[in-house]
Amino acid sequence: MLAQTWTSLNEENTMPRETLTIRLAEPSDYDKLWAFFQENNRADVTAHFQPFPLTEESARFICHEEKKDRYYLAFDGEQLIGLSMLRGWDEGYDIPAYGLIIDYRLHTKGFGTVVVNHAFAEARSLGSPGVRITTHATNDAVNHFCRKHGFEMLSKEPIELDGKPNHKIVWQLNFTPDSA
Ligand SMILES: CC(C)(COP(=O)(O)OP(=O)(O)OC[C@H]1O[C@@H](n2cnc3c(N)ncnc32)[C@H](O)[C@@H]1OP(=O)(O)O)[C@@H](O)C(=O)NCCC(=O)NCCS
Repeated sequence: MLAQTWTSLNEENTMPRETLTIRLAEPSDYDKLWAFFQENNRADVTAHFQPFPLTEESARFICHEEKKDRYYLAFDGEQLIGLSMLRGWDEGYDIPAYGLIIDYRLHTKGFGTVVVNHAFAEARSLGSPGVRITTHATNDAVNHFCRKHGFEMLSKEPIELDGKPNHKIVWQLNFTPDSA
């Protein structure tokens, strides 16, 4: 297995934006994605990321299977720093569900925003009328993002998460000619 290393991080533990590339996952990304999943398979990530488990099978499916759904990988140079996805087209939905993970060591540095904006531009260019995000009331980063970017709250249902009361929230952004 290919190990992730972080030696290229600079002293502030941030990365220059010009080295960030985002592209569709490919079969040759499998080792890096599986390593990324293992490193990010932590409660603070998986508590809010629940579309699928961060397993070897999920990494294989993302990198190797033909599909309409889109799985994008964000790299700083050669280092995989995030996964972003538009899902639902394979199941026949018009509006894809969006999900993302940024490496837990790199949160709150602006990478999530760059990766989200890339995916929304992709969804628009693929003819989607909008995007949908399902999250929890306690996912402050995602709820903040959705409010800031004009998402409409479609539903808010009480659920239990890790033995505690929470809410499942579904947000939707309808693209207009002017929206990003
Ligand atoms: C959600 C996630 C992708 C955000 O990535 P990120 O790189 O930290 O995001 P950014 O640095 O671009 O921050 C985006 C905004 O959220 C805010 N934010 C980030 N983390 C926050 C937190 N814990 N609480 C409140 N606001 C937060 C930032 O301040 C920023 O606000 P701004 O645009 O007004 O400046 C990241 O926390 C993550 O991977 N979480 C685990 C998986 C997950 O929850 N996925 C989403 C559900 S599928």
